[in-house]
This record gives sequence, C-alpha cells and structure tokens, in this order.
Amino acid sequence: MWFELSPAPRPDDGDDRDAYRRRAANAAARLGLASRPSIDTLTQAWRRDDGCILVANGARRYLCLPDGADPEAADALARAADATARECDPPDIPAGLVWAHAFVPRGATISRTAFDEPDKDDDVRLDPPAGQWVVVNVRRMGWLESRRSKNWLGDEFNMTPDTSKLQKAGVGVCRVSVGDRDGGRAHRAAEMAANALDLGVTPGFASHTSRPAWGLVALMLPLVAAAFAGFMLLNWPAWVLPVPILGLIMAVARLALTPRDAAVWQRPRHWWGLTRYREAQSADLKTRNSGDDLEAFGPQRKRRVHAYAFQRSSLPVPPTALAALARPSASRLSQGAALTVRPVGLETADGPRLGRDADGRDVRLASNVLYGGVVLLGRPGGGKSNSMHGLERWASEHASNRDAMVVFESKGVSSIPVLKRLMPRLLVVDVADPSTPMIDLLGPGTPGERGERFASLMRAALGDEQVGPASRLMIRDAVALALTVMPEPRFRDRCRAAGLVAPDTWPQFARVVLAGDGVSAARALAHAAVLAAPGPDVQAMVERLHGAVNPKTGRPAVSDGELVKRLAAPMNKMDLLARCPGVFAPGRRTVGWRQVIAHGATLAVNLGGTVRAPHTTLGDDQRSLVGALLLRGLREQMESSCAGWYDAGRHMRVFVDEMTEVLSGGGNAEVFRWCRTQGRAFGVEMTCGTQFPENLDPSLFSLLMDFDTRCTFVMRSVASSTQAGQALGVDPSVVSSLGEHMLLVRTVDADWNTLPPMVVRTPWFDNGEPA
Ligand SMILES: Nc1ncnc2c1ncn2[C@@H]1O[C@H](COP(=O)(O)OP(=O)(O)OP(=O)(O)O)[C@@H](O)[C@H]1O
Ligand SMILES: [Mg+2]
Repeated sequence: MWFELSPAPRPDDGDDRDAYRRRAANAAARLGLASRPSIDTLTQAWRRDDGCILVANGARRYLCLPDGADPEAADALARAADATARECDPPDIPAGLVWAHAFVPRGATISRTAFDEPDKDDDVRLDPPAGQWVVVNVRRMGWLESRRSKNWLGDEFNMTPDTSKLQKAGVGVCRVSVGDRDGGRAHRAAEMAANALDLGVTPGFASHTSRPAWGLVALMLPLVAAAFAGFMLLNWPAWVLPVPILGLIMAVARLALTPRDAAVWQRPRHWWGLTRYREAQSADLKTRNSGDDLEAFGPQRKRRVHAYAFQRSSLPVPPTALAALARPSASRLSQGAALTVRPVGLETADGPRLGRDADGRDVRLASNVLYGGVVLLGRPGGGKSNSMHGLERWASEHASNRDAMVVFESKGVSSIPVLKRLMPRLLVVDVADPSTPMIDLLGPGTPGERGERFASLMRAALGDEQVGPASRLMIRDAVALALTVMPEPRFRDRCRAAGLVAPDTWPQFARVVLAGDGVSAARALAHAAVLAAPGPDVQAMVERLHGAVNPKTGRPAVSDGELVKRLAAPMNKMDLLARCPGVFAPGRRTVGWRQVIAHGATLAVNLGGTVRAPHTTLGDDQRSLVGALLLRGLREQMESSCAGWYDAGRHMRVFVDEMTEVLSGGGNAEVFRWCRTQGRAFGVEMTCGTQFPENLDPSLFSLLMDFDTRCTFVMRSVASSTQAGQALGVDPSVVSSLGEHMLLVRTVDADWNTLPPMVVRTPWFDNGEPA
C-alpha cells in the first residue's frame, strides 16, 4: 500500500525536547520494528508485515507499507516526519536506472557521541534531484542481529552500549539504494543517503552497484567449472555434472525473471554466517576517560573484538533517523527558489488561484477562509498587483449580484486598464478626474446633518489625535455653513461686494472661513454668508466659529490672534481638501457607498494619477487624506448595509493595493481591526497589499500578520525580510532568496488547520491567465 507524505506543520512541542523522539518511537512501533514474532505468531513470520519502504524523489516522499501492516502506521510515521500521509498510486520509477546501494566498509568504526536531535524546520536529510530515486527499505532487526549488535556496540564503545541510540527499542535495519541514470551519481547519492542516517559510522559509507539475482549466477559458474574439471581430470563420476548445471540454469532463469525494479523491493539482507570479529587495535583498548585498559599490554589483553554485526549492506536505523528521512523536503525552504508541493489540505480548495506548485499543479486558497483576510507583501515590482488582480478577478467571477466589491488602487494608470480587461463589469471612480463620478463624503440630509457626518468621518478617519473634539466641531460648522449658504443665489454677489472671490467648492469655503486666507477674509466671508442667508442658524454657526460680536462696540469677542490659533488645526485639514479642486468640482456626479453596496457593484477607486491623460495627480498628503476618508466611509457603510451578510452567504470584498497610500493616521488602522474582529458577520473579505512592512505602524503590522493568509514576494533588505520572515514563520533568508514571480504563502486549509509555508509560482494574471 503506497502513501505520499506531504508537508504539514510540526506539532507545537513547547519545551518538550523529547516529543519528537516519542513520535518517532511510536511510528517505529507501529511499523513493527519494536516487536518480535512469538511462538504463536511465528507461523505468520513469513508474511513480513514489518517495516516499510521509503522512497524519496525530488521534493516528494512516498511510503510503502507491507500488506497486513498496522493501518495507523502511515499516519504515525507521517506525524513523526511533520507530514500528512495520503494513499496514492505507486510512484512511477522509470526503468533503466542504474541502482547503487550503500554498505559499511571493512574496518569502519562507530562514534559513541552520535545522538539525534530534532531537525530544524528547514533541515532536510534527503534531498535528491528530480531524476534521482532514493529508496530506504526497512525491516525489523533479526534475532541474531540484535544479539550481535549489542556485542558489537559494546566492543566499539568499550563499555556497555545502553546509552547508544542504536541500542533502543524500535531500531530497524535498512538498505539504502539509489537509482539514477548516471551510475556515478547513483553511487555518490547512495553514500550520501547512508550518511544522512547519521549513525556515527566513521569514516562513512561505500557503495556498490546493485545487480539483483547476479549473485547466484556468480556462485554457480565456478561450481559448474569445478564439476567439469573434476569430471574431465579427476575421473569424478558423471552425476556430479547435472547438479551444478541445473543450479546454473535456475540461477539464469531467476536472473531473467527478476523485475527491473528489484532494487526497490530488496529487503536488507541478513548475515547468517558466523559472528564477525576483527583484530583489536590500540584504540579499542582505551578506557572511556583516558589512558589504556589495565590489561592493554598484559597477556590477558583483548585480541579480538566484535566487528560489524549486520550484513554490510544492512544499516541499523534508529526511529528518529527514519522519521528524519521521511520528512518531505517541501517543508524545507532554505533555498527560496525551490517550489513546494501542494499540501493535502489544499487539494480540494476552491478559492482563488495563487500559483503553481513544484509539480505544476494549481494551488488555490480555500474560499471559506477568505474572510480571515489576505495580505500580500513584496518589494516594488515584485508582483503584488499582479497577484492582487488574480484575486480580484476570481472574486468578480464568483460574485453573485448580491455581493459587492471595492478595489482601492493607487496606480490606476497601469492597473485600471488591466482590471477592465479582467472584469468587464468594473465601474471606476477616478478620484482626481471630474468626468468620473466621485464617492459622496457628505451623505444625504440637511446641511447640518451633512456637516456633522463629514466632521465625524474626518475624525474617525484621521484619529482623535489629528482631529480633536474642538476641531471636529469647527469642521462641522464650517462645512454646514458652506452647504447652507453656497446654494443661495445672493451669495456670490455678497462675496463680490465684500471684495472676496466666491469659493467654488465647499472645502474651499470651509478653508477660507477657517482662516485659510487670514482672519479678515474669514470674517468677511462669514459676514457675507450671514447677509446671503440671514437667520438664526447661520448666525449661530458663525458665532461658534468666530465668536460673538459685541453689539455695542461692533468688536469681536475673540481677538484675531486668538482666532487663528483656534482655527489652525481644522484649517490644515480643510486646506488639503480645498487643494484638490477636481475631486470636489462643482457639478461632479456623486454616488454614495450605500448605493455602491446596494447595487452589488464592482468598483475600482483610483487614488493615483488619472487614467485619462494628462494624468493629473493629487499630492501625497491629499491622496492619503482622501483615501482615508473613503476607506473609513466604506467601513461605516458596511457596518450599516451589510449586517447579516455572512449568514446570508453574501460577500463584501475589499481590496487595497498599496495600503500606505490609503492609510493615514490612527483612524485607518481601526478599519483593519474592525474587518478582522467584526468583519466576518458582515461578509467582509479584506485583501491588502503593501510594499515594505517596516513602513507600517507596528500595531497595524501585527494586525495584518494575524490575517489567515499571508504572502510575500522577495524582500531583499535585511529589515524587510526579517520582519516578513518572522511574520510568516520562516527564515528571513528564505524571503530574501525567493525567485522572480515566486510567492511564499502561509495559509490555512478549509478546516482552518495551519498549513506549512509554501512557495508557488504566480501566473501572469495581468496577461489573462485564469484566476
Ligand atoms: N507571474 C508573472 N509573470 C510575468 N510577469 C509578471 C508576473 N507577475 C507580475 N509580472 C509583471 O511584473 C511587473 C511588476 O508586477 P506588479 O506591478 O504586480 O508588481 P508590484 O509588486 O505591484 O509592484 P509595485 O510595488 O511597484 O506596485 C508587471 O509588469 C507585471 O505584469
Ligand atoms: Mg503594485
């Protein structure tokens, strides 16, 4: 029965340094390596239901269990090897390979200090290239072997061998063979694979070419020759001839019938001969601490010591070494360039495609974990936007008309045409282009309500530090005043009469009234406003902004200097907005987030240069302010429009390419926190990308790294790769050595089990590859 082992994360053992050893011992026991036939089971001994065959090829690991093996054995070994086992067809080992197997050279000794440690996550013992097949065939230790191995170890160590790892329960015996088209490579690889067992054999291993079934032929040929010679020269009787000839014929027949892949199935041989000894050398006569044995030079000195206890091509294998060999190398990422194999957990994943694995199979996310958030990191030009476009395309193709989707773009000039191609339903809000609609920041209602809403939005988007309570009230009154008086027909005349240029847009009005052009202009504009729309409301707003006027003297209660100070903070914000004239151009169509969500729109908001030439852009501060207002507005609308969407199976998908462009101040971090903590109930699925993690606020970064799917493209600088590596739980060198268009992914499967880090090759979505 064949199984494929694919990488899974290692169980968290905490401080328990022996847990891996126990897992390995359990696997060995289940493989029958720690048991022995008894008188009752002796009749079944010929069945050979012990041991296993491990096959390593490239990044893949296969396991073959004998019929009748413990069905749990595959899982137990997989657990010990940080993998999951899945039944599969036998691996397709090509015919015509040269097979070599390792053996212990004569005179090799063993070092007593060889102990097993858990391999690090990115260690791998076997690492054959794609065209090479490493086969480790394991069986349990025979009766003779176990007796002899103790004596052998005892003599090697010149002490009782109980502390040796080769003297524990569950030590099996294995034969290590390697098949390769090139004989030389096969030999080298066989020696390396045997060394990977880390037995402590010094100086190491040698290798033979495997010639299955040739041995008997080689034995029979001299016998036939001898029989002939005896018959011809020594007058032996004629009946000595047929026996060896028959033997030879049978040996040749056996050779002919031997399957080509016999090396794979060759169990480790036994040594049935007499116990092997070798002559004791000076080193064998040393004590454990220092100096010579008392008897080292006396007549009683040890002259012979036990030699290697096994057939020389059979190597003892402790459980931990077996588990280490079984470890799929896909969990090793030390060479970033290596693509990994898709984990079993994602086999049936039905979400967006991230890329292709080492075998060219699609690696998809599980669609039900998307509300756990997706974050993409990577240096400029790494391919974030390309991957983001793939995710967006998948989302739009899998959206019902009850789902909504909003994409925040900062590089619309290059992205929007691509997105339009990938998503025919896409609507575009090009923030700096007045010919496209703009998202309404004010909402419906009376001027007072709209001013109030805008001021709250401003405060929420920028955070309490940037917009304090007093500033919020100023902004509210300034905007409400603008919205009240600007539509008045007399307003422009009043302005002209006061020697002012009438402001065109409400942010410009608010800016002037907040003393953006000086206190006298602010007072003059307020006066014009009162004249244009006389009434207690307007009067009250002006008084709240500029202070009351003493009716007797006509002097303002608040001095000019004092007023400038009071208005400075809110004025700065309105000043930024007033400087993006296109954004609030008079007569520009507006649409509210509420309508966008209600109509199930697929909307891209471009905060960068306009798609239409000339590519007008906003300043950096303006862009991040407008972006923050839009994102915050969306978040509030989602809260009121999308209640119960998750239960209804509806999706509110938000994509933010280049977070740093949209983020501003503390308020926006709250948006991500809200998405993470409450978004699920509202069906919110957040995907965001950013170039350099170290540019983000640390608390925001840790929030992002709590997302269930975290991906990164290559990061070259030490700071970025360290941070990304930590966040993804991989070595920073992996992040810094990723190849072009390779994405390192950390995600969970559909049952929310954490998966090991994967490296996939991203498709070129921008060029139309399907998502
Ligand atoms: N898998 C791919 N195969 C071929 N070309 C690709 C692939 N992925 C991305 N590209 C191309 O590489 C270029 C850079 O990619 P992209 O714009 O996605 O990078 P980015 O990480 O978003 O960069 P920035 O941080 O500057 O926005 C683009 O021209 C894109 O088309
Ligand atoms: Mg980009």
